[in-house]
Amino acid sequence: MSRIVYVNGEFVAEENAVISVFDRGFLFADGVYEVSSVLEGKLIDNAAHLKRLRRSISELQLPSPATDGEIINIQRELIKRNNLQEGMIYLQVTRGAADRDFAFPANASAGLVLFSQEKNIINAPQAKRGISVISVPDIRWKRRDIKTVGLLAQVLAKQAAVDAGVADAWMVEDGLVTEGSSNNAFIVDANGKLITRHLGNEILHGITRASVLELVEKEQIEFEERAFTLDEAKNASEAFITSASTFVWPVVQIDNVKIGAGVPGPLAPKLREFYIKNSLARA
Ligand code: PDD
Repeated sequence: MSRIVYVNGEFVAEENAVISVFDRGFLFADGVYEVSSVLEGKLIDNAAHLKRLRRSISELQLPSPATDGEIINIQRELIKRNNLQEGMIYLQVTRGAADRDFAFPANASAGLVLFSQEKNIINAPQAKRGISVISVPDIRWKRRDIKTVGLLAQVLAKQAAVDAGVADAWMVEDGLVTEGSSNNAFIVDANGKLITRHLGNEILHGITRASVLELVEKEQIEFEERAFTLDEAKNASEAFITSASTFVWPVVQIDNVKIGAGVPGPLAPKLREFYIKNSLARA
C-alpha cells in the first residue's frame, strides 16, 4: 500500500514524491530531523519534539520551513490520510535547494519533508525480552546535541551491531558511554541508583530520556546524571535505552557480558509502563 507523504507544500503518493538533486540535505547532510511516535492515532511528546526542532534549526541557522501550528497540522493530516494508529511521523528540514556551494545560499527556502511509518511499538518483542548490544568507538562530530541528518557514524554503529548478531551499539568515547546508536543509555548500579549521562554537546538531549527522568523523580527513585564507563555498564544490575521509536527497552547483554541476571527488570519494564500511560494521558 502506497503512503501519502508531505514534500515542500504538497501531500503526494510516495511514488510521486520528488526533491531536487540540489537539495542541501542530499548534498551536505545540511538539515535536521525529528521523530515523533504515534499511539492510538495521537502524537506522543510532540510539543517537546517541536521545541527541540526549533533549537536544532536555530543552532544551524537554518531557515524556518513553517510555524509549529502548520507543522502540527501536517503531522495530523498524515496520520489521518494514512490511517496511522501506531508508529512514527518523521520530519526533516533542510537548507533547501541551491547550486552546490559550501557556504549558505543567499536565498534558498527551507526544504520540508514528512512521512509516516507504521510500527508496533507497544507489543515490540524487544521490550519484553530485552536486547543485546555491542560497544563501538564514538566517531561522531562534536555537536551531537543537534539532531542533524548527518547520521553516517550511527549507520556504521548499527551495522556493526547487525553484523555481530545483536540489536544495537553503545558508543564509547574516552572509556565513557555516550549513548546508543539512536537512543539514550541508562544503567542501574548495585545500590539501585539510576545513572544516565548528563546533558551536553556529547549526546542528543532525548525527549523520551527527559520524560522518563520526570517519572523517575516523581516516583522518588534515586538517580544521577553523569558519564559512566563501559566497565560500570557491564557491572550494572540493570541497563536500558530510551527513544521515541522504542520508548524503554531493557539491555540484557553488553559485549557478551550479561547484565545482572541477564533478564529484563525490575526497573525498565516499570518505567516503560509508566511512560506509556503518562504520555498517552498527555497526548
Ligand atoms: N533517534 N540519541 C540519539 C543519537 C538518537 O538518534 C535518538 C533518537 C535518541 C533518543 O531521543 P528521543 O527520545 O528524543 O527519540 C538519543 C530517533 C528515534 C531516530 O533517529 O530514529
